[in-house]
Amino acid sequence: MKGKKILLGITGGIAAYKIAFLIRLLKKEEAEVKCIMTPASCDFISPLTIATLSENPVYIDFWNQKDGQWTNHVELGMWPDVFLIAPLTANTLAKLATGYCDNLLTATYLSAKCPLLIAPAMDLDMYAHPTTTNNLNLLASYGVQILPAESGFLASGLIGKGRMTEPEDIVVTLNNFFMLKNSMLGKKVLITAGPTHEHIDPVRFIGNHSTGKMGYAIAEEFLNRGAEVLLISGPTNLTLLHPKLQINKIISANEMLSVVQNNWLSYEIGVFCAAVADYRPIVQEVRKIKKNDEELTITLIKNPDILAWAGEKKKENQFLLGFALETNNAIDYAEKKIINKNLDAIVVNSLENEGAGFGYDTNKISIISKKKQITDFPIKQKKELASDIVNYISKSFIKK
Ligand code: CTP
Repeated sequence: MKGKKILLGITGGIAAYKIAFLIRLLKKEEAEVKCIMTPASCDFISPLTIATLSENPVYIDFWNQKDGQWTNHVELGMWPDVFLIAPLTANTLAKLATGYCDNLLTATYLSAKCPLLIAPAMDLDMYAHPTTTNNLNLLASYGVQILPAESGFLASGLIGKGRMTEPEDIVVTLNNFFMLKNSMLGKKVLITAGPTHEHIDPVRFIGNHSTGKMGYAIAEEFLNRGAEVLLISGPTNLTLLHPKLQINKIISANEMLSVVQNNWLSYEIGVFCAAVADYRPIVQEVRKIKKNDEELTITLIKNPDILAWAGEKKKENQFLLGFALETNNAIDYAEKKIINKNLDAIVVNSLENEGAGFGYDTNKISIISKKKQITDFPIKQKKELASDIVNYISKSFIKK
């Protein structure tokens, strides 16, 4: 981060006390740091501490009452390579989401030309409130990178999600940001995610436990690196907003196939994460099935293999990654899938590992290449694995 200009916005939450440590870490990395504090944050940490550690004057008001000088928020917004707001309170978040600028920090946000990173911190109910979720989603749709709050002890005495990301992790994110920013600029990535639902009748379907978390995390990682993403998603509770994201929501395997067929050849990278139902009812009843008989037989027919279709059509300049979820003989089965579906690599997650698979925030994966080289990863958060998977793809794609 040597020489990188970081504008640090501090708002009035208890996590503001950790910012002294964050500034020390940034200075150790030889970054240039300037800080804007909201008046409320000065109750939590002294501007003198922040000025001393950042080795720069601290900006709080539009004008300095002592010397009568005006602080130019437009100039301040032009200065940095990145604008980080940490901790970000629910109050300032709401102001950013609505463009309300009643202090120097929020006015600078509207003037800033650089990428913005935010590290929200608040009590668990405030963090879980739909208003907060909507405000965060709105900022994400403008391209703001969010460092999600973590779970743990909160100043209120409650335990839950709302703690600011730790300063060490913020530094890792900033380092990655500078290293990876724009590394996927101009690349077009097609991703399938989530389950498919196969209708039995108007009120019932066959589905599976996939939540779509892994596919959405991979989509977000590509977007953060500047790629254009088409996310073809089965039914999930997840939302992802970004100016470079096109999201196409489908229900069934046949619908997913048709979106893939219309798009795959104009994309360079395909990541097929979806847990597609292997079979669908041969007949989809128009009316609800009544429980008249003791036994009910539904005849199923095989669904099209979407990944196999993409593999068959794959051109030299395209990179195709599949996923395999196995309960036994994971590596053997996965290697067969690479050949049968003409893949460049496959991500294997085995349900034999605790903490891996559907619904968990963590996963344990191995990636196997076409040449049968196996790369193992330890159990990690799906978001971190998304970064490992995208790193793997970018290295392999460049070699191709
Ligand atoms: N896939 C797909 N279309 C299908 C089935 C699977 O695109 N109809 C993709 C998945 O997105 C995943 C990979 O293929 O990338 C999984 O391979 P698959 O052969 O479906 O694995 P299993 O369902 O576990 O198959 P099997 O029961 O034969 O092991």
